[in-house]
Order: sequence, then C-alpha cells, then structure tokens
Amino acid sequence: MKKRTQSIKSPLVIGNWKLSPATFEEAIIRAKEYTQLSKKYTKLTIGAAVPFVFVSELKKRTKNLCLVGGQDVSVNTEGAYTGDVASSMLSSAGADFSIVGHSERRASGDTDTAVATKVKLIIDSGMRAVFCFGENERDEGGDYLNIVKTQLLAGLSKLEGRDILNVILAYEPVWAVGRKSNIAITPHDLHQMVIFIRKTLREKFSTSVADKVTILYGGSANPENAESILFEGEVDGFLVGRASWNKESMEGILKSINGKKKIVLSLKKKDKKRRK
Ligand code: 13P
Repeated sequence: MKKRTQSIKSPLVIGNWKLSPATFEEAIIRAKEYTQLSKKYTKLTIGAAVPFVFVSELKKRTKNLCLVGGQDVSVNTEGAYTGDVASSMLSSAGADFSIVGHSERRASGDTDTAVATKVKLIIDSGMRAVFCFGENERDEGGDYLNIVKTQLLAGLSKLEGRDILNVILAYEPVWAVGRKSNIAITPHDLHQMVIFIRKTLREKFSTSVADKVTILYGGSANPENAESILFEGEVDGFLVGRASWNKESMEGILKSINGKKKIVLSLKKKDKKRRK
C-alpha cells in the first residue's frame, strides 16, 4: 500500500473543483496556477480535489507542491458497478486524498453508513479522507447540533486504531455551500461549532486526538472572510468551492492567511478557562 508521505502545513486550503473546469487543457492551466501559488505562499498547504479523469496527470504536473485528490469514491471495491471509481483506483492514480460525504453527494443518495464505509476504504487505500458533514439548516431549538454530532460519529464509526489521524474534517453547513447570496457562517458561530466538534472527538477518542485532528471550514469562503473565519473560528483551513476556480480569488484567500496560525489552547485549558 502506498504511504501517506506528504506532510501538511497548517493552514490547509483545498480547492474543491467540483464539475469544473470543462476541459483537460483548462485543468492543466489551473493546476499550473496552483503550483505557482504553492511556491509563492510557502507557509501553508494547497490542495486540489479534482474530477477523477484529471487526477493522474495533475499529480505528475504539480510535482508534489500541491496535494491532489478526488471528490468521492465508490462504496464498492470491485465488480459490476458501472460508472464507479474504487478507492484503490484513485489511490493508484496518485491521489493523496479524497473528499467523502460532501452534501452534494449526500443529496444524490449517500447515507451515513455509505459515508462511513467510504471513509474507511479511503484510509485503507493509503489516502487521507476529507470527511464532510454539516447541517442543512439552523433551527432555534439547537437540533442542528444533534444532526452534526450524528453525522460526525456515524462517518467515523468504522475507523480502527490510529485511522482517525488520517481523517481531515470539513465542517460544511449546507445552507452556506454554493449559495448565490454568498453568506458564510459568522466566525463566532463557527467557533462554537469547532468547540462542539472537538468535544465530540474527545468523548469518542481522546483529548490528544481531539486537539490534533485538522478541521476545515467550507461554505462561501472567499478573500474577504477567510482571515476572520480562520482566526476567530479557530479552524485549520478551508475547503473552498467557487472561489478556488479562479486564480485571483484563490490567491486572495491564500494571501490573507499565509503563515498565520490560529492560537490553539488545548481543550483542557479551554475548559479550565471557561470554569473560572
Ligand atoms: P462554495 O465555496 O462554492 O460555497 O462551496 C463550498 C464547498 O462545497 C466546498 O466543498
């Protein structure tokens, strides 16, 4: 099995290319721009989650300056599943990671159980899993917290041993994803959610795991809001949709957060602080 050798500097910014660009030629141009941006902004890690057909060539062309990954894998490993791509195929094409559980895949039928199987398959194939979860909408009663917790724990339920360390969490509230209104979460609300996610991880795993796991935010991230979301929201980076398809807006995000570290208090310290 291939090894997950590539190190990841924080902040981590992954562009989710979704169904774009339209041609291989355009994908090569965009990948070249990402490579240039990686050379220019050296205090962070850039990744691109690209359509399957581009993975192999873009992995070669980006020369390990960027992470290159897919956007989903099959829940199956082999057999009569026309149109599917198995995690082993993606990994052997050179992918460093795959997105899994994205709301746009859940909307096409991915259940929590399927997502959990895929997370495990991705890790067992030697890649990192960028595991997306998030509520469809926020209700005043706070039920969205239960939805987030259920999705999170379900997606991680098939992991064994140290698998969790190869998971990158991507909290993506669906109401903020791909919207024309371009409304992202407020940094304050994100910070509350990050505390909740780390608390949930601490209960399932341990404090050291909860502190270590990378948490990205996705949903209308852009050059104007990236800095405040990263710092005040206390996330480790972004999974960016539309703004990652264009060099100027991708660069705007990178420039605003390059080399800037969020201040991380361990959960224990945070708890003590809150109790005072
Ligand atoms: P937008 O940044 O276009 O809202 O999309 C976010 C997303 O879906 C990242 O996976």
